[in-house]
Amino acid sequence: MLELRDLRVHFDISKRGKGKTVVMAVNGVSLKIDKGDALGLVGESGSGKTTIGKAALHLVPITGGRFLIDGEDMTRLDRATERKLRRKAQIVFQDPHSSLNPRMTIYRSVAEPLILHTKERGSVLRKRVSELLEVVGLPGQFLYRYPHELSGGQKQRVCIARALALNPELLILDEPTSALDVSVQSQILEFLKDLQKDLGLTYLFISHNLAVVRYICNRVAVMYLGGIVEEGHTEAVFGEARHPYTQALLRAVPYPQAVQPDRGEPLTGDIPSPINLPKGCSFHSRCPVRIAGTCDTVVPPDVRLGDDHRACCHLLP
Ligand SMILES: Nc1ncnc2c1ncn2[C@@H]1O[C@H](COP(=O)(O)OP(=O)(O)OP(=O)(O)O)[C@@H](O)[C@H]1O
Ligand SMILES: [Mg+2]
Repeated sequence: MLELRDLRVHFDISKRGKGKTVVMAVNGVSLKIDKGDALGLVGESGSGKTTIGKAALHLVPITGGRFLIDGEDMTRLDRATERKLRRKAQIVFQDPHSSLNPRMTIYRSVAEPLILHTKERGSVLRKRVSELLEVVGLPGQFLYRYPHELSGGQKQRVCIARALALNPELLILDEPTSALDVSVQSQILEFLKDLQKDLGLTYLFISHNLAVVRYICNRVAVMYLGGIVEEGHTEAVFGEARHPYTQALLRAVPYPQAVQPDRGEPLTGDIPSPINLPKGCSFHSRCPVRIAGTCDTVVPPDVRLGDDHRACCHLLP
């Protein structure tokens, strides 16, 4: 459904007369999400997760590499690509409060993509908007309310209804519950899980909450400093994490039924700047098991560990 091939997103943040400064937010990511799968993208703040999600919708400019949706190359943005992309894929952001226009009724917010991209009007449009609100569990009485009259969880349901308006197959969910109250979080997560099954959707689920990813996703990709360091089936990655970074992430956030790797120390220090990427393995400066002379100079290989499990590390066989 979604395929990234060596995707790169670099932001030029140079100030005039001060030389070139480039943030290498995404640096050669290759990733595949099959139809009906839910891939969780995890990693520390600043690792490039949101940038990947935005790149797959052309919300940020792509520096290099390619991406395909449903087998079609969408890397070059022209009118036809844009139209297809808007129908195939949609994104739901973290903060429902700023995602909705406070001056628009709920009806208008959900109807907007339909008005922009379809010919549906009048009673047909009203019926479709009501259906969408029903799908996300909001009764008709919400139609003509304004965002400030809704709770955070209700607003996020509206954002999801709007994202579903054009019947997308791929939904990119960027920390969809992080801004919500804990009790509401689990309701929305349960709803998202059912929604995926009922509508046969494909998810790219961005989160740094490993427990949430384990609940929702059947596959996981672990991101560090613009690259994927480990990827595979959720049970493989969580149960037999092989990359020292994944192991450190799992140690940092204990969760039920996890095999807590006992090797190495907890992760210390901050993620290095994506402006000056480290040489060799991007994780070497914080890695408890690094090999001097190798990890700090040579880029690690991508090692296949099983049917659906791979990791990038010099220490792997
Ligand atoms: N428009 C932009 N201009 C310049 N730098 C950017 C821009 N967008 C993102 N970045 C930088 O790119 C890097 C990756 O950012 P991104 O938002 O993708 O991280 P993230 O993994 O989603 O983090 P978080 O978990 O905090 O949401 C960061 O260093 C960020 O500062
Ligand atoms: Mg983000």
